[in-house]
Amino acid sequence: MSTTERTFIAVKPDGVQRGLVGNIIGRFEARGFKLVALKLVTPGKEHLEKHYSDLSDKPFFKGLVEYMNSGPIVAMVWEGYDAVKTGRAMLGATNPLASAPGTIRGDFALAVGRNVCHGSDSVESAKKEIALWFKEEELINWDIATKAWIY
Ligand code: RTP
Repeated sequence: MSTTERTFIAVKPDGVQRGLVGNIIGRFEARGFKLVALKLVTPGKEHLEKHYSDLSDKPFFKGLVEYMNSGPIVAMVWEGYDAVKTGRAMLGATNPLASAPGTIRGDFALAVGRNVCHGSDSVESAKKEIALWFKEEELINWDIATKAWIY
């Protein structure tokens, strides 16, 4: 298992506007993941359409892009053991009503179209998403001094 697996996590506009950024970051920090990139962005419609291009034929696609384009997003890259799968587990199910309490969506959301955060669903899509949202020089390589207590 690699300690350097990376996932792309984003706090969506509803999460930013509801003041949930600190809580969401705190969960990833407390779990032991390492933050390697972070920025507040309004990337625009074209970028968001690219991010969700796999869903372009879905009936909710237009509304999804409008929602994602409605305010700033906190874009992040987190690194650590099984970061992609564990990140998804921490988020909960796509539909918040199916998300267990204790997950981000299970604690903070009710509607599928307002589900507060995004997380990459595979290592391959994490790589694509990280490259879409961040320039190489925005990914910071650094060491957690207390790594010995995590791994
Ligand atoms: P995300 O990409 O945002 O992390 O979400 P996900 O993998 O859990 O779910 P996905 O199927 O990729 O859907 C992307 C986002 O589209 C919105 N959605 N709305 N039936 C609907 O109205 C519907 N289904 C999905 C959600 O915001 C979902 O997170």
